[in-house]
Amino acid sequence: MPARLVVNNLQSYFFTRNGLLKAVDDVSFSINPGETLALVGESGCGKSMTALSLLRLLPEPGKIVGGEILLDNHNLLRLPEVEMRRIRGNDIAMIFQEPMTSLNPVLRIGDQIAEVLILHKGLPAKDALCEADSLLQQVGISDTGRRLQEYPHQLSGGQRQRVMIAMALACDPKLLIADEPTTALDVTIQAQIMDLLLDLKQQRQMATLLISHDLGVVAGNAENIAVMYAGQIVESGPVATIFAEPLHPYTQGLLNCVPRLDRKQSLPTIKGQVPDLKKQHDGCLFIERCPCPCAPCGSEVPQLQEIKPGHRVRCWRY
Ligand SMILES: Nc1ncnc2c1ncn2[C@@H]1O[C@H](COP(=O)(O)OP(=O)(O)O)[C@@H](O)[C@H]1O
Ligand SMILES: [Mg+2]
Repeated sequence: MPARLVVNNLQSYFFTRNGLLKAVDDVSFSINPGETLALVGESGCGKSMTALSLLRLLPEPGKIVGGEILLDNHNLLRLPEVEMRRIRGNDIAMIFQEPMTSLNPVLRIGDQIAEVLILHKGLPAKDALCEADSLLQQVGISDTGRRLQEYPHQLSGGQRQRVMIAMALACDPKLLIADEPTTALDVTIQAQIMDLLLDLKQQRQMATLLISHDLGVVAGNAENIAVMYAGQIVESGPVATIFAEPLHPYTQGLLNCVPRLDRKQSLPTIKGQVPDLKKQHDGCLFIERCPCPCAPCGSEVPQLQEIKPGHRVRCWRY
């Protein structure tokens, strides 16, 4: 099965007044149809900028300066902007942490979903409303007739996220990007939304890029994990492998932060913070927080290396 999305050596930099900031630095991954890749890491490590790069929607003064993004073997970075506009919303859909910021507060739910269908699928208005109703049912919203007439503020946070998912699904995307889709929600609602995403992915054979700062959230919901630190992938592999045999000290630290029933004491945190991405770094970007740095770590940047089939790590210890 050919991969749906292949990202090779992606580099996205911010050309700020205070200097060059390498938000995404040599990132590579791939996702198959019907599979989910979880991109995890602390806040500020480049997850959202990776996602926005895929849509070619980096905020100013950001630019993609290198690499390729292949969707079904077509390099998105070579497409003219008009073609790219067709890809957004048709082939790639994205949902965000706070649905309220993406929903229009003065438009009824039904009209917002219908608008997407009219614009991207060319449906007549009446059919679009019918389809909107069906989409709301598919994302587990009850009493859809009434919901279609309501405004975003009349819905709960979880329902709003379901509406966002319905809008994302409206065009049957090949790739769904979910950027911290449940971070703003209560834990029980969080689990329901994750279950919904899992169901939809299986039914529709979408490839999903699931972004989260929380390894616990992604555990049961992804086939593969890529751990990101300071703009780079430091470890990647199948979920079971990463959980059973984390190699990078940063991954080990993240896993220690996941709550477990068999561990009563308070959760440890990873000491220190993400390095300043504007500074020039000669060695490993994790060195200042690493519990076990060794000789080359301060002077040479480690490369991402395949240790076992499918399991890659960027660390001098291996
Ligand atoms: N508009 C911007 N201008 C300059 N730097 C930015 C901008 N947006 C994001 N960044 C920087 O890019 C880096 C990665 O950010 P981001 O991808 O949002 O992190 P994450 O999603 O993992 O929390 C951060 O260092 C952030 O400060
Ligand atoms: Mg983010």
